[in-house]
Amino acid sequence: MLQGLADEQSWLPSKLFYDDEGSRLFEAICDVDEYYPTRTELGILEACRSDVAEAVGGQLTLVEYGSGSTKKVRLLLDGLDIAAYVPIDISRWYLEEAAEKLAGSHPGLVVRPVLADFNQDIRLPDDLPPGPRMAFFPGGTIGNLRPHDAVDFLSRTGKTLGTGGYLLIGYDLRKEPQRLHAAYNDRAGVTADFNRNVLRRLNSELDADFDLDHWLHYAPYVPARGRIEMHLVSDRNQEVHVGDETFHFYRGDSIRTELSHKYTRPGFDSLAEAAGFEVMRHWMDDEQLFCVSLLRVSALSVIR
Ligand code: TRP
Repeated sequence: MLQGLADEQSWLPSKLFYDDEGSRLFEAICDVDEYYPTRTELGILEACRSDVAEAVGGQLTLVEYGSGSTKKVRLLLDGLDIAAYVPIDISRWYLEEAAEKLAGSHPGLVVRPVLADFNQDIRLPDDLPPGPRMAFFPGGTIGNLRPHDAVDFLSRTGKTLGTGGYLLIGYDLRKEPQRLHAAYNDRAGVTADFNRNVLRRLNSELDADFDLDHWLHYAPYVPARGRIEMHLVSDRNQEVHVGDETFHFYRGDSIRTELSHKYTRPGFDSLAEAAGFEVMRHWMDDEQLFCVSLLRVSALSVIR
């Protein structure tokens, strides 16, 4: 978990973000004015549901890759013909919540939660109804993987779904750095709190002594790489202890906590194709800030 702290560019794994406080802060980010992805994607999803239904046809099994909130999935459940819902998440708590809430509001829906980390191969339950399978991966979370890891992840998803399976996926589009920068550096400082929460967590869970007042949120957009990089920058020379290990940081040293890649449409299409998918359709908002694509596991990909 902490081996990255000693690397030349220190880093921490991004799964540290999402404890209870982190999840609460992330939901707050989604409501921040400058953070356009969440509300833009919701608008696109609402508008594209009938097109998706038409493209896919039949009673669907919806496979959802850990999204944290049931808001987006509800939009699909209410707008598509869905027989079964398979939420996949590493949090047992989230799975139970999601399963319970949706069983309540959608009686008759078959709910089959799968407790799994989606960095591993995942098998779907055996007792799913017939009919097409569609995975749903919203939130632009695909952008938090490096492009080659994104290809691996998508290939594995394709294997999980099988030939003919569908994937509805949202990703953030490249755009003016100013707009991107604002989205990850909101004036109210909610994103900064979310970023620093990682250190608070190390303090309370791993007996560390990070002084939160001396780590600054810094999230530049790097056009050459098409990505936002999330950092925490030390504003003085300091020593930090984690358990019985000591780490030295100079003023200006940073710990990288997350990457968020942005894609052009053709760029994302090639990524999807490299992973064995065929791009069937895509939908964007009027400002072309965000894109939702419908992909299908191509028959060829089983040979790979
Ligand atoms: N998946 C989100 C994104 O890349 C996660 C995110 C939003 C995030 N703001 C953040 C992660 C700030 C770390 C820090 O847009």
